[in-house]
Amino acid sequence: MAARALTCTLTLLVWAGVSLGQLVLPSRQNGAVGGNVEFKPISSPADTYQVITWRFGENIVIRSISGAVSIPRPEYRGRVSLDINTLALELRNLTMGDTGVYTLIADTAASSYTAETTLKVFVNVSGATITGPTGLVIEGNSANLSCDASGTIVTTEWMKNNQKLSPSNNIIFSADNRSVSISAVGRMDSGEYRCTLSNPVSSDSDVFTMTVNYGPDNVRIEGPSEVEERGSVMLLCSAESVPDPRYAWTFNGTNTGVTTDSLTMDQVTFSNSGTYTCTAWNNVTRRETSASHSLVVREIGSLSGGVGSLSAGAIAGIVIGVLLGVALVAGLIVYFTKFAGRPKSSSRGVKQNGATQNGGEHELNYADIRHFQNNQSVLNMGGTSTQTRQGTPAMVRAHRGANQGAKPEAEVTYSEVRK
Ligand SMILES: *[C@@H]1O[C@H](CO)[C@@H](O)[C@H](O)[C@H]1NC(C)=O
Ligand SMILES: *[C@@H]1O[C@H](CO)[C@@H](O)[C@H](O)[C@H]1NC(C)=O
Ligand SMILES: *[C@@H]1O[C@H](CO)[C@@H](O)[C@H](O)[C@H]1NC(C)=O
Ligand SMILES: *[C@@H]1O[C@H](CO)[C@@H](O)[C@H](O)[C@H]1NC(C)=O
Ligand SMILES: *[C@@H]1O[C@H](CO)[C@@H](O)[C@H](O)[C@H]1NC(C)=O
Ligand SMILES: *[C@@H]1O[C@H](CO)[C@@H](O)[C@H](O)[C@H]1NC(C)=O
Repeated sequence: MAARALTCTLTLLVWAGVSLGQLVLPSRQNGAVGGNVEFKPISSPADTYQVITWRFGENIVIRSISGAVSIPRPEYRGRVSLDINTLALELRNLTMGDTGVYTLIADTAASSYTAETTLKVFVNVSGATITGPTGLVIEGNSANLSCDASGTIVTTEWMKNNQKLSPSNNIIFSADNRSVSISAVGRMDSGEYRCTLSNPVSSDSDVFTMTVNYGPDNVRIEGPSEVEERGSVMLLCSAESVPDPRYAWTFNGTNTGVTTDSLTMDQVTFSNSGTYTCTAWNNVTRRETSASHSLVVREIGSLSGGVGSLSAGAIAGIVIGVLLGVALVAGLIVYFTKFAGRPKSSSRGVKQNGATQNGGEHELNYADIRHFQNNQSVLNMGGTSTQTRQGTPAMVRAHRGANQGAKPEAEVTYSEVRK
């Protein structure tokens, strides 16, 4: 209420001043050290004045008597001027000492008018610098950022990745906002910090990129758990870590000498069965984390029958496996009885295509099916089965289901085999 009343009064005064021919100046103005400012009346009641005087406190800055301008004080000589038509005072090469109240007195023959304005001079903000952690920042440690600059600093603002940074559970601002203290840095605190220091006439900013080092966490090995003899295997180790970790692989506890994130083996033998352990080491956090993976090398052909695609406890899978085995045996019997001795041209293709996956057994199955199907004619593996033979559609569906669920690459390989 009080504020509104005041605004109302001021509005009325300004309106009255303008309409009744009062002398009015802007109430406040800002300037920069070394810069210039002009005080110019918003309204002026007369066209000409006999005496125009600008004062700073008690001191006369500049005075005009019937057009004759004088600057009594030496500190203003060379840096002030008066426009006798508009009454405007220009003040150049400002210093901090120029901050204060300026009064304009303008006299006509009949009356005297007075107006006031307040100047605030700021030193331009320059050389903003963020001081951040000098060493490496490790997750869980504390980190402080502080911002400084020369000049008159009125406001301080922090941004992180171009978003306003606000106090939170672990981010505390100092009373003047010049320092930010992160009590326990998390990996999410990595980013580009910008501080902007400003005053009404200038601002400056600096950026600091903070990288939070962490990990390795969630070390995982991806790869098959079973492979046929003479097949090939790739195990891929991954970890959440900054910086990227160094990897080391052991086999049954013995160093393999492999220091990349992947370990590949071609032409595996039974002696490759065992436990593969990947250790990820972060040289900044000085932490290491390991993950292990068991690999079993099986005899060629022993992974047939859908064993590999069986998910633990999947009763449906067991049923499918049984059906498949029966169908396969039936197919092989038909094949060997009727077409024994024919070269298995597609088997080579299967081995090449299936070489890098543990789904190899599926390609073998498909190859077998293909021979079987070719000779019985009509099979559409990609779409609806037009097969009429008992047992075979179930087998086909089972395979398709198993591969779509777990090993889609097996199906791709299959279509290559079919060509
Ligand atoms: C102060 O900063 C303002 C705005 O950045 C600029 O226009 C002015 O030239 C600066 N003055 C001096 C004296 O550096
Ligand atoms: C501005 O003022 C400073 C001292 O306050 C003086 O050294 C400098 O020469 C002045 N510059 C100009 C352009 O008058
Ligand atoms: C950060 O500031 C807080 C409080 O000012 C202090 O306790 C802490 O030790 C500082 N941390 C670092 C890394 O300087
Ligand atoms: C510090 O910043 C907050 C906003 O983050 C603001 O509300 C507060 O007024 C600032 N304090 C000072 C002293 O500038
Ligand atoms: C590796 O360990 C597994 C399991 O203990 C064992 O069966 C296998 O023989 C070992 N292989 C080698 C080469 O030591
Ligand atoms: C960590 O290792 C990288 C190279 O892998 C090296 O550039 C960096 O200086 C190392 N850092 C530390 C703290 O040892």
